[in-house]
Amino acid sequence: ALPLVKEDQLTGFLLVGAKRSGDPYFSEDLDLLSTLASQAAIAVTNAQLYAEVVLVNEYVENILKTMESGVVAVSVEGKVTLFNSAAERMAGLEAASLRTGPVERLPGALADLIQATLGDGVPRLQVERTLASADRRVTPVVCSTSPFSDAQGRILGAVLVFSDLTRLKELEDERRRAARLASFQSLASGIAHEIKNPLVAIRAFAQLLPRKFGDEDFRENFSRVAVREIDRINDLVERLRTLSTPSKPLQPLDLRGPIEETLELLRVRLEDRRISVERVYDEQLPGTLGEPSQLKQLFLNLFLNALEAMEPGGTLTIRLKGRGNGEAGLLVEVVDTGCGIPEGLPEKVFDAFFSTKPQGTGLGLAICRGIADVHRATIRVENNPAGRGAVISLAFPAAVEMPAEVRG
Ligand SMILES: Nc1ncnc2c1ncn2[C@@H]1O[C@H](COP(=O)(O)OP(=O)(O)OP(=O)(O)O)[C@@H](O)[C@H]1O
Ligand SMILES: [Mg+2]
Repeated sequence: ALPLVKEDQLTGFLLVGAKRSGDPYFSEDLDLLSTLASQAAIAVTNAQLYAEVVLVNEYVENILKTMESGVVAVSVEGKVTLFNSAAERMAGLEAASLRTGPVERLPGALADLIQATLGDGVPRLQVERTLASADRRVTPVVCSTSPFSDAQGRILGAVLVFSDLTRLKELEDERRRAARLASFQSLASGIAHEIKNPLVAIRAFAQLLPRKFGDEDFRENFSRVAVREIDRINDLVERLRTLSTPSKPLQPLDLRGPIEETLELLRVRLEDRRISVERVYDEQLPGTLGEPSQLKQLFLNLFLNALEAMEPGGTLTIRLKGRGNGEAGLLVEVVDTGCGIPEGLPEKVFDAFFSTKPQGTGLGLAICRGIADVHRATIRVENNPAGRGAVISLAFPAAVEMPAEVRG
């Protein structure tokens, strides 16, 4: 019997019987047998290791298969090495068509992120993206990437993990609807109040009319007040209509279009008040989805507020830039050099009928918020931390990116 030894560990025995010739074992035979035994020991260990690797592989594959999150791995050469079933489901793509293919075959939203990490070795965390599959299904996802490297620290590839945000977005929509419903009540009471006042004035005059018909002054007064008050109601109704118009479908657009058209509308007023307009636009701007006439309405309300807040000679600055922090999307800032938002009011200014102006209806920003909602944009007001005036910022989500197949 010969021991099979691997790294001082006994892994088995090699048992040999008597020679068929009946000869004894000579020392050359023993040398041969011990060489054989040491080779056999290596082979046995390798077989054991192989079985272990297969097991571990199966284990990892099972985990990847049952995971709710999508997992994508790309080698440093830019080849897709892993695309699990959750990733298939969310992206509407088959792993078989991607595996060992170039990273560019991944949906654009994922390819960019993973390439960025491959490029600089820096992880990207919790980045929101939108996946569109060939059948036009749109899935919002949140992605994180991380590089992986060998013991010497050389980058071997990068892995991207992403999860479906659909349910979360639905909850967000539900919350918005609930908030809208809640504001409906205060809106209704505001409307009632706004219509009641002019009606009271008109009624008082109408009651006096039979008695005072002969009074020239009275007739003139009546005509003036009635027209003014009716105009007020008419104005209110007009603005309320924009609050309630069902939105038309959003289309891909360049926000500079509606911004310029709105500025053109206001050109005379801006010149009269010697307000200069500064445009600070990033060279590379992500696309957005929008409805042009609603966006014009939104910018009109914001620019009018800025105009009303400024003394002659002020500056209206419009900034357009990417959202940053690895987030796709567009940020618009409307900055003025006016009086600023009154202390402690930032949230109130969005309430319908909240106004600090004698002639204001207080519907401007309420309408803006409604339009922003339709565009899934968030709107915030704050005072300029770097000086005078207010900053209204709008964060638009990125336009949906088409998967590689659709992009062609
Ligand atoms: N750029 C700004 N600078 C300072 N205050 C602002 C600015 N924009 C809005 N506000 C404040 O928010 C309030 C609400 O604005 P909103 O546009 O909703 O109504 P309004 O301008 O008062 O009335 P309307 O828009 O109907 O003429 C304003 O009355 C003002 O106090
Ligand atoms: Mg306004």
